[in-house]
Amino acid sequence: MRVIEVSMEQCRNERAEKTGDPEKTRRSAASSGTTCDIVHHTTNMCSSLSKALHHGAQTVARQELRGISDQGRRSHTAANMAVVVPTVQFHNGYKMPLLGLGTFLASSEVVGAALDTALRAGYRHIDTATIYENEAAIGEVLQKWLKSGRVRREDLFIVTKLPGSGNRAESVEKYLKKSLEALQLNYVDLYLVHSAMGSLEQVGAARGPRVPDVTTDHISIWKAMEAQVDAGRARSIGLSNFNSRQIKRIVKEARIRPANLQIELNVYFQQRELAAFCNALDITVCAYAPLGSPAFADHLKQRNGEDAE
Ligand SMILES: NC(=O)c1ccc[n+]([C@@H]2O[C@H](COP(=O)([O-])OP(=O)(O)OC[C@H]3O[C@@H](n4cnc5c(N)ncnc54)[C@H](OP(=O)(O)O)[C@@H]3O)[C@@H](O)[C@H]2O)c1
Repeated sequence: MRVIEVSMEQCRNERAEKTGDPEKTRRSAASSGTTCDIVHHTTNMCSSLSKALHHGAQTVARQELRGISDQGRRSHTAANMAVVVPTVQFHNGYKMPLLGLGTFLASSEVVGAALDTALRAGYRHIDTATIYENEAAIGEVLQKWLKSGRVRREDLFIVTKLPGSGNRAESVEKYLKKSLEALQLNYVDLYLVHSAMGSLEQVGAARGPRVPDVTTDHISIWKAMEAQVDAGRARSIGLSNFNSRQIKRIVKEARIRPANLQIELNVYFQQRELAAFCNALDITVCAYAPLGSPAFADHLKQRNGEDAE
């Protein structure tokens, strides 16, 4: 599967860099084509801890071990059984682990157990969003781990997203502050604009059909995103579900360039042109729904009514 190949290539690059062989590093990077910084988000839509163990953490960790690094394999056999996940470096120097735990559709009741299991397995990159309505449950587990000293804040990579209903300049700070409060953190590692299209603010924004906000202005939203970096609330900022035309426009006006684009990427929907476009701009690409999100259709039916297709 493509994400595994990419991870292997990334590891080869990292090994070449570590051995200090610049020619080998260059050759390795060149052979990786356009996609050496794709991140694989795994599922956490498990309904119980045993499912979390099966799908959410250990299975994926084992899959990755087949293809990733000797370093990771050695760590897995160590007493704590944790996997060291390779990283990709952003243009601003911050590093993001290539494998992340996705938390879409994970209710607050389920996500705590899944996250605890994932952290024990070695996950450090956690992906959530305002609209997943699980940031507070995630925050509780993170606090426990941080307070107990089992993990340091600088070892975690926490991603959350501005909801479409906050896609206006004056809402960015408000939504990020709410996310930080729920996550019990002072900053997130990456704050993403969740979608290019804005919607009107509604109570219970995650539920029901959304009403498009035709006044959405990407440039002013991006300037408000930059202000979050200045204020120390986000280390890096990026986009999700934006196309190349929209990204180009933002990059042209940006003082702080997007560090990452999170998009659907899997064998059914490979988006090679968009990944190459981002690669050329030094914008890393994160693959969501890497397994094709088989539960998404049911989620849409539940959200929009059984008749919706
Ligand atoms: N930025 C965005 O707009 C956006 C959109 C969607 C997702 N995301 C992020 O990306 C993450 C991953 O995407 P996703 O959860 O939608 O999709 P996904 O990872 O492609 O698919 C998850 C589904 O795969 C199933 N699954 C996992 N391992 C399996 C196995 N070994 N055999 C059979 N089925 C298996 C899971 O079933 P079980 O439920 O039974 O475990 C779950 O239904 C999300 O959690 C979220 O953090 C971002």
